[in-house]
Amino acid sequence: MNGNSWYKEMAVYHIWCRSFCDGNGDGIGDLWGVLSKLDYIRSLNVNAIWFSPIYPSPNADFGYDISDYRNIHPDYGNLDVFKEVLDGAHQRGMRVFMDLVVNHTSDEHPWFRESRKSADNPYHDYYIWRKGILKGSRILPPNNWMSIFEGEAWEYDEHLGEFYLHLFARKQPDLNMANPAVREEVKNIMRFWLDMGVDGFREDVITFIGKTPGLPNSYPKLPVANGMKHFSNRPEALEYLREFKNDVLDRYDCFVVGESPLTSADTALKYLSDGPDRVLDEMIAFNHMEADCFMTDMLRRPFNLKKMKRAFSEWQQKLYGRAWNALYIENHDHARIISRYGSEDYPVESGKMLAAMYMLQRGTPFIYQGQEIGMLNIEMPDLESYADVQTINNAKVAMRFLPKKKVMKMVNESSRDNARTPVQWNSGRNAGFSESEPWFPVNPNYREINVAAQNDDPDSLLNFYRRLVRFKLEEPVAIYGDYRELCPDSDKIYAYLREYEGKTLLVVCSFTSETVRFEAPEELRLDRAEPVFTNYEYNYIVANGFTMRPYEVRVYLFE
Ligand code: GLC
Ligand code: CA
Repeated sequence: MNGNSWYKEMAVYHIWCRSFCDGNGDGIGDLWGVLSKLDYIRSLNVNAIWFSPIYPSPNADFGYDISDYRNIHPDYGNLDVFKEVLDGAHQRGMRVFMDLVVNHTSDEHPWFRESRKSADNPYHDYYIWRKGILKGSRILPPNNWMSIFEGEAWEYDEHLGEFYLHLFARKQPDLNMANPAVREEVKNIMRFWLDMGVDGFREDVITFIGKTPGLPNSYPKLPVANGMKHFSNRPEALEYLREFKNDVLDRYDCFVVGESPLTSADTALKYLSDGPDRVLDEMIAFNHMEADCFMTDMLRRPFNLKKMKRAFSEWQQKLYGRAWNALYIENHDHARIISRYGSEDYPVESGKMLAAMYMLQRGTPFIYQGQEIGMLNIEMPDLESYADVQTINNAKVAMRFLPKKKVMKMVNESSRDNARTPVQWNSGRNAGFSESEPWFPVNPNYREINVAAQNDDPDSLLNFYRRLVRFKLEEPVAIYGDYRELCPDSDKIYAYLREYEGKTLLVVCSFTSETVRFEAPEELRLDRAEPVFTNYEYNYIVANGFTMRPYEVRVYLFE
């Protein structure tokens, strides 16, 4: 923070360690595996890595329920091997960011264990405990908020006779950030990792850390995430973030990206605008990930290109000149993008198109493990085969209202487990992920889709990503250019221009398996431009346009 700007010339590789690479042969990805793949990661031309949580955790939410903020989960290694990874990354010119999950801890964190012992325990006020409301012989929760993962946001503790708040799973009690002692703990955790040499943080659901004082009921009552307006983007959250920035982050040469569900570009600017009030460098937005769903990934609707374009353009335009975007289309929380916005019938074509589509916008691109080889969704036989708490709990709720078959279709299409299958390294046993049975099934398509098969093939998606990342980081127009959308009314083509210091980049993407004609603006003569990225052979220009083949992408540079 503190006015640095190196993150503008950065591309980040995102690792969800458990499924990345198993180094010690127990079927679980780990830091020894990461160590063995540092050269591979660097070969993508990225210059940073973000680790989803690798701290000790009972894994109710696979690491997003932390029981020790200053250590490494024994499944993944220990602090020594982490330091080797950190050094190895730094030697290769890659920065390292940790996930910082401080909206909640695990219920197995020593703070929470203390906190539930008695109401006068010094840790009691580290969490949000309240008495219930007596109604006849029943005790009702203190308010009507709903959790995002499992039913009511309150869990009753018999021993204490109080409820604790959990906006996510029961095993993820919310920290009471209003308590200054909790904020001191957070700052000390930040210092611990920054002093070790870590370069910054991805801050988990950071827009949820402030709650309306008094925790009032919320109306009208929504079936999911009820209470949102009392825990999302509250002014208190901004205050806490300002404190973290002033007391810690501004004293280090670090980068901070906040995850911000339910946040519009206008609201984002409160956190991101250049100047003394800026509390985050970037935000992980959600709007563009909702073009085939409603509010949450599980509520499916057909993919709507215009919706996606509107979301991207809104963030591009509103942040222009004021703040910096984080660009992503995959992470550990969403199904695979080719299976969603692209086409499994045209996996390589649509994979390349989607890559250029988001990465050439203005902002810092993030690439999620396996995205670079076009990993696809996995089909699981039944709900019992899933591992993700959100998938399982939401499916159970949905089954109360909908036929099982319909729910299973929603689950198959949207489960976060789609993105959590082991990375497919080669066509050998267990896709080269592990010598033993992996903790979660490998996608059966690994024989065709894997790193080894693509590594030396110049036309592979993997090598497209490598070239694209290099171009993005070496070509100033791809970094600093402005953004202007073309043909916003088209429901088949997404096209935009970037301009910077006399150079223009034109990005044209087809989102259909039909053929569709694209007409370039008159002032841009296609025959005078250099085609820098294409995903088909023979790229004819007819008049000042071309007919696009299924999921075609063309990127032209005008000098
Ligand atoms: C964020 C994480 C997600 C986690 C949730 C609760 O959305 O990305 O994986 O389940 O927060 O911590
Ligand atoms: Ca292992």
